[in-house]
Amino acid sequence: MSQVKFFLDEKDMPKKWYNLAADLPTPMLPSLTVDGQPVKPEMLEAVFPRNLIDQEMSTKRWIEIPQEVREMLYRWRPTPLRRAVHLEKFLKTPARIYYKDESVSPAGSHKTNSSIPQAWYNKQFGIKRLTTETGAGQWGTALAFACHLIGLECKVYMVRVSFDQKPMRQTMMGLWGAECIASPSPYTNAGRAVLAEMPDTPGSLGIAISEAVEAAVTDPSGQTRYALGSVLNHVLLHQTIIGLEAQKQLKKARIKTPDIVIGCAGGGSNFAGIAFPFTLEKINGAKIDIIPVESAACPKMTRGRFAYDHGDVAGMTPLLPMHSLGSQFIPPAIHAGGLRYHGMAPLVSQAIVEGLMRPHSVDQLHSYEAAIIWARTEGFVIAPESSNAVACVIEEANKAKREGKEKVILFNMSGHGLMDLAGYDKYLHGKLESSQVAQEEIDKSLARVQKVHLAPLRKTGRFHS
Ligand SMILES: Cc1ncc(COP(=O)(O)O)c(C=O)c1O
Repeated sequence: MSQVKFFLDEKDMPKKWYNLAADLPTPMLPSLTVDGQPVKPEMLEAVFPRNLIDQEMSTKRWIEIPQEVREMLYRWRPTPLRRAVHLEKFLKTPARIYYKDESVSPAGSHKTNSSIPQAWYNKQFGIKRLTTETGAGQWGTALAFACHLIGLECKVYMVRVSFDQKPMRQTMMGLWGAECIASPSPYTNAGRAVLAEMPDTPGSLGIAISEAVEAAVTDPSGQTRYALGSVLNHVLLHQTIIGLEAQKQLKKARIKTPDIVIGCAGGGSNFAGIAFPFTLEKINGAKIDIIPVESAACPKMTRGRFAYDHGDVAGMTPLLPMHSLGSQFIPPAIHAGGLRYHGMAPLVSQAIVEGLMRPHSVDQLHSYEAAIIWARTEGFVIAPESSNAVACVIEEANKAKREGKEKVILFNMSGHGLMDLAGYDKYLHGKLESSQVAQEEIDKSLARVQKVHLAPLRKTGRFHS
């Protein structure tokens, strides 16, 4: 009988986060103001507390996880590393498939790895209230949980299509004391402007971010800040605990380095969490194929542009150097709401430019097919976002079979799908649609980005994905 679970004790949970910004072979471009000036820390102070801004701008390789944060993470961390032996058998592949199970957190996904430290740093800074956006509802529930533990108020703008598809996510936020509002809403200038132009819009993460930032910066008490669930450097930093644990657990499975590392990528945080510690190994000479997987409904890495673009629709955020489809892009209403974001994290984007990562995109139907195979082999019902990673895992395991290679594949199972059964139901009844986006729609959206700034593609030429 093969060993299928690899656990770590609490004492083995990492005490530091890993910051890829310290090791990127070509340093990241700075974020810019609309008039092209590099963003200075003080310009972000209305939005984030200073301690998180310092983390955002840090190029220190290792950053200590505060003791109090570690004590909260122990509720469910370290998470298990599992081996998907039943899927391997079903596929008749010589590949060995391992995955980090992030679905075991109280909110059901990796998002609590960052919501807890973000709420904690805000509390330390004297903040009373946080606002945020949420796509599928995972980040909103994770922040609601963290704010409840730490003693902050929490207001969540949830993308309209997910608000309607996943009402139980609102209940979860409510039980931890957060207020959840469908976005676009009539309560902010950004929301009202979108509703006036497109009253029936399904909404987007870009719109919800504009609303949440506006709500934070216009609070006259000055005691509200905004928290983002992905994209920014400090969020990716917090998620690296996933990959750092996986490195220790793979050693227990007597594996030095995986051949392939895979994660689904909305704004890039769970992917970065599993991938960045292995990206450092790759920078130092290991041969690893590192694959961020996006939805074909929102293909910023495979069909977008590396450009300076806003992180939100209203242009309230600075210009970020990232792969983007344009901040006005509204993706089709797929069930993987967490992958409906127009941009990719600047750290991941720069690693792609450098050739350290090889992006891949998956159609919604293909991802559900993979989720059903997973449920019928491994047994767990996974989040629609995670199923995009599983679709890529299956492709790579089949490729290993064709090539007769015993590859080790590691991926991040970012969350469970127990609040996402409506999508499964549609798939099982043949009502789910493909999620390809027409080229003219992408071109139209990108034309606006080109008017802003194209970011220079800086790379050493040492890596080829
Ligand atoms: C389960 C799950 N996986 C993945 C994602 C995508 O976000 P990120 O790319 O930041 O990990 C989300 C976002 O909501 C999610 O809920």
